[in-house]
Amino acid sequence: MAKHEQAGQGTGSITLNDNSRQLQLELPVLKATQGPDVIDVRGLYRDAGYFTYDPGFTSTASCDSAITFIDGEKGILLHRGYSIETLAENSDFLEVAYLLLFGELPTEQQRAVFDEEIATHTMVDEQLIRFYNGFRRDAHPMAIMVGVVGALSAFYHDSLDIHDPDQRHIASMRLIAKMPTIAAMAYKYTRGQPFVYPRNELGYAENFLRMMFSVPAEDYRSNPVLSQALDRIFILHADHEQNASTSTVRLAGSSQANPFACIAAGIASLWGPAHGGANEAVLKMLMEIGSKDRIGEYIARARDKNDPFRLMGFGHRVYKNHDPRARVLRESAHAVLREMGSEEQPLFELALELERMALEDDYFIERKLFPNVDFYSGIILRAMGFPVSMFTVLFALARTAGWVSQWNEMISEPVQRIGRPRQRYIGYGPREFIPRDKRG
Ligand code: SDX
Repeated sequence: MAKHEQAGQGTGSITLNDNSRQLQLELPVLKATQGPDVIDVRGLYRDAGYFTYDPGFTSTASCDSAITFIDGEKGILLHRGYSIETLAENSDFLEVAYLLLFGELPTEQQRAVFDEEIATHTMVDEQLIRFYNGFRRDAHPMAIMVGVVGALSAFYHDSLDIHDPDQRHIASMRLIAKMPTIAAMAYKYTRGQPFVYPRNELGYAENFLRMMFSVPAEDYRSNPVLSQALDRIFILHADHEQNASTSTVRLAGSSQANPFACIAAGIASLWGPAHGGANEAVLKMLMEIGSKDRIGEYIARARDKNDPFRLMGFGHRVYKNHDPRARVLRESAHAVLREMGSEEQPLFELALELERMALEDDYFIERKLFPNVDFYSGIILRAMGFPVSMFTVLFALARTAGWVSQWNEMISEPVQRIGRPRQRYIGYGPREFIPRDKRG
């Protein structure tokens, strides 16, 4: 675990005045090293008979973590203390994965060992290939990902024991190493093309692009501009504190489920359009808007409470300022579109105009709604040749580094408890059972 200044402890007092009684409570305040301190309410029900109430967890810290810090008001994202802008500019994805997992940037020697370990695990059990044949060819690749990643626990029995650090380590390497292979196989399967085996002399993103787009009938030429842009996209998606899918992985892990099952649960949660599925939804929205003169119509719909339409790729639970990842992606889009030609340029210009108009609109200003990581990523991925259905798969591929790091951090906690939230019950009290022939 990374060394960091020891988080301290204080006390806070709360006066409760509800219509039944007045209560003065002393509650411990646990100090954070960055961001808000927390009120420790673990004894609240035992000592005062109350639950806290926070659907959506807007003000709830579910755990201690030293991996990622977000300051939503300032639009700051740090991984183990390094800003996302610095990492996107100076690191590559495997170095960021190492940082997330082990807490420090690797030395040359540590990086060489890590690369070797990842390379050892890029292939999947040949038997797994038959698993793909059970899917329809038109299956959504995310459906395949959820199924195949969960099925890894049926193949890798020597890395299921979560109490064994060595097995946890091998499972972590396998997941990071195999996600590109599994993702590319999901794409090839839906295209009816043969699977392409990984080549370990290639970089992580370059290997994935080759498994995605090479065919046996032709020689494949890597494009360093695309490999570098994709590697940067992976960095930007690697981890993001306790978001919905990471919280899903932690909750599944708290029951001591095996790591492959936990990551499959995270993939399922990420799939939703309110979360990782938004990148796919942004592209569909931009294509539906079609031209700049229709942007106003869609902004009006987004403002309209009677219309369920939301501006996809906008807004964020934590960021109430620019999502720093969106800024980096907007710059990357310029580079990729220059390299790939201007076919996606109109869509990019539409997105830029939509961002400009939304950021000048009082509805978005009042609610501090800014473009998030999903707003520009889809345009870049489509320009690279990825079909829209693969966008969230790439998000899951990159986020596996974060999920695995957060899972390891949780499993390494000295005290682990199963996650088991309570509720505010609003249903019937006890009532008599009425036999069916007596019911009205
Ligand atoms: C990701 O958590 C993470 O870190 C996630 C993520 C990660 O890296 O893991 O960053 C990845 O999931 C990014 C978000 C991708 N999702 C989208 O782009 C979908 C569109 N955005 C939203 O649906 C929404 O903004 C959320 C889900 C992202 C956040 O929802 P919240 O925090 O629950 O906010 P809310 O729904 O309470 O909205 C607050 C207000 C509401 O208006 P009022 O009721 O106050 O009048 O803002 C409005 C909302 O109606 N609003 C939007 C809007 N997002 C919020 N109105 C129009 N368009 C939008 N996109």
